[in-house]
Parts: sequence; structure tokens; C-alpha cells
Amino acid sequence: MKKFVFLLLATLLRGTAARAFTGPDLSENQKDSTVFMPGEVWKDEHGNVINAHGGGLLHNSGTYYWYGEVRGETESKGVNVYSSKDLYHWKFEGLGLKTSSDPKSDIVSGCIIERPKVIFNQKTKKYVMWFHLEMKGQGYDAARAAVAISNKPTGPFTFVKSFRPNGHMSRDMGLFVDSDQAAYHIYSAKDNYDLRISRLTDDYLSPTSQDSLLFSKHREAPALFRKGDQYFLITSGCTGWAPNRASVHVSKSLFGPWEMIGDPMAGPKSELTFGGQSTFVLAVQGKKDAFIFMADVWKPKDLKDSRYIWLPIGFRDNKPVIEWKDQWGLSVFEE
Ligand code: DGJ
Repeated sequence: MKKFVFLLLATLLRGTAARAFTGPDLSENQKDSTVFMPGEVWKDEHGNVINAHGGGLLHNSGTYYWYGEVRGETESKGVNVYSSKDLYHWKFEGLGLKTSSDPKSDIVSGCIIERPKVIFNQKTKKYVMWFHLEMKGQGYDAARAAVAISNKPTGPFTFVKSFRPNGHMSRDMGLFVDSDQAAYHIYSAKDNYDLRISRLTDDYLSPTSQDSLLFSKHREAPALFRKGDQYFLITSGCTGWAPNRASVHVSKSLFGPWEMIGDPMAGPKSELTFGGQSTFVLAVQGKKDAFIFMADVWKPKDLKDSRYIWLPIGFRDNKPVIEWKDQWGLSVFEE
């Protein structure tokens, strides 16, 4: 009997120790993952759920960095940074930008930080983050853009300033760096009715006065990319956290004119962007014309549980086409 109790205890203890050291479970698919599973729970290499919403990616010296909103149930906690060599396996690099405990700071805890994007400035060698900032206690009324800076892609990022670009309201936003290293801020202005673009100063820290209206169609969630000599801009409608129909505009110049060429999503549930909302388009390194559409499936009652949709962008008659896939891998770009 004594021996039986001893064996039972030993077995139980061994089980606990094993669980404690292996961390949360990774599904078989994730351990061995060379697939993306849009809409599923995505975990980092330690098995923790990736908390990086409304995000964007930066490629730098063979590594991808993923920056995104850290959310609690609804609150903003800052910007998380993850890194990956292959886009499938993600290492948590930490909270790259933290909300502040200083009540005088624009980013005092209680503010809303959304849609962070980071670009690298080759002249200053700085990593520059822009994000949408709403001030504590003001709902979505402040409508400001904000800038933070770091010497390293993994941060920590230091808050620099927040403002309304050239006096315009600024909510959902993206950044785009062109082949000549000029950078641009694309943002929803005038209560989201206008979508605007402004060229940034050479240090990427401020908008210049080259700031113009792209179109006035009540759109948000801009994700801009370039293929050859054409620019494509995917946007969503404005229905809060609820999904809606996407559209894509095309232009030969960033300052327009932009032509609407329809909804790039195709197939079942495409009319609601498969339940998601655009956030970024990644140009996959080392592959010609290989682009990944990135979107968020928002869960407004528990924002940290919002999911990620990444899908490959195909082209038909030189128009982007995005079809749902339960799972897929980068080999689609070789087909
Ligand atoms: C839609 C925006 O795209 C999100 O980033 C967020 O601001 C929600 N609206 C808030 O309702």
C-alpha cells in the first residue's frame, strides 16, 4: 500500500513538473508549423497567445518584426514586439512601447493606442513608430497621430510627441516607405470621411505640408502596397469593430488620382472581409510580387482574443484577389 501511494505521488509530481516546464500547450500544428491558419489562436514560441493587434511588420536584416496593439479585455497596454525569421515561428521580444504612469504624458495609462506601424530610417538609423492615439478619458475625440523612436527594432521605444497632422483629425493609419526611401502616413481624417496621405520629413518624425486628400468615401483601416509601378490601397468601411466589405483603389502616384477597382476579397464571406478588417500588406522578402494581406478579426468584448487573418494576394488582370484559405504556406508564391 505504502509503495502504491509513493508511486502515485511520484507520478503526479512528475506530471506537474513536466507541465510547469513545458509551458502552455502548443497544438501539433503550431509546433511543427509551416502553415498559417487564419482566424485560429496563434501562439508564440513559448506557447503564449500572440497579443499584437491592428499591427504591421518590418523586415530588417533577415528578420521580420511584428508590432501590434497589446490589449486586455478592452484596455490598451502599449505595443508588443515579436520577431521571426520565417513568418511562422514568433519570438516574443517584449512590450516595445508602454503606456506611462505620468498623468501629464499623452500616453498615460487609460489612453488608447491603435494600429502601430514601424519603419526604419536609413539616414538616422532609428526605428520610428507611428500609431493612432486617443487621450485618456476622451473616447475617440482626440483623433491624433503619435510618434515613438528606438535605436533597436525590438525597442524600447521612447514616446516623442502626438499631434493632428497639419491640423487634420487622424484615426486609423498606415505607413508606407517607397523605393526612394520617402515615407508616407496614410490616415482617416475628418471623422473618417476623408482618407489623406502626407509625406514625412526625412527623419520620418513629422508630416510635411505635402498632405493631400486621397478620397472622401468614409473608409478606414488603410493598407497600402506597391507592385511594379502601381500602388494599391485596401481599406474597410466604418462600422466600429464589426466587419464590412473591403475595397481596393489603384493609382500610379501616391497622391492620386486613385481609382476604385472593387472588392479584392473573393468567395464565401468575402462581403465581410471573412470577418476581418485590413491592417497591413507585407511584401514577402526574396520573392517577387509576393504579398500577404493581414487583417484583424475583432472581439470587442475581449479584444486580446481578437484573431489574425493572413492570406496571400493573387492577381487577376493585374487586380488583387484575396481568397479564404483554412491553412496555407509560403509555397503558394512558387505556384
Ligand atoms: C475601427 C478601427 O479600424 C479600429 O482600429 C478601432 O478604432 C475601432 N474602429 C473602434 O471602434
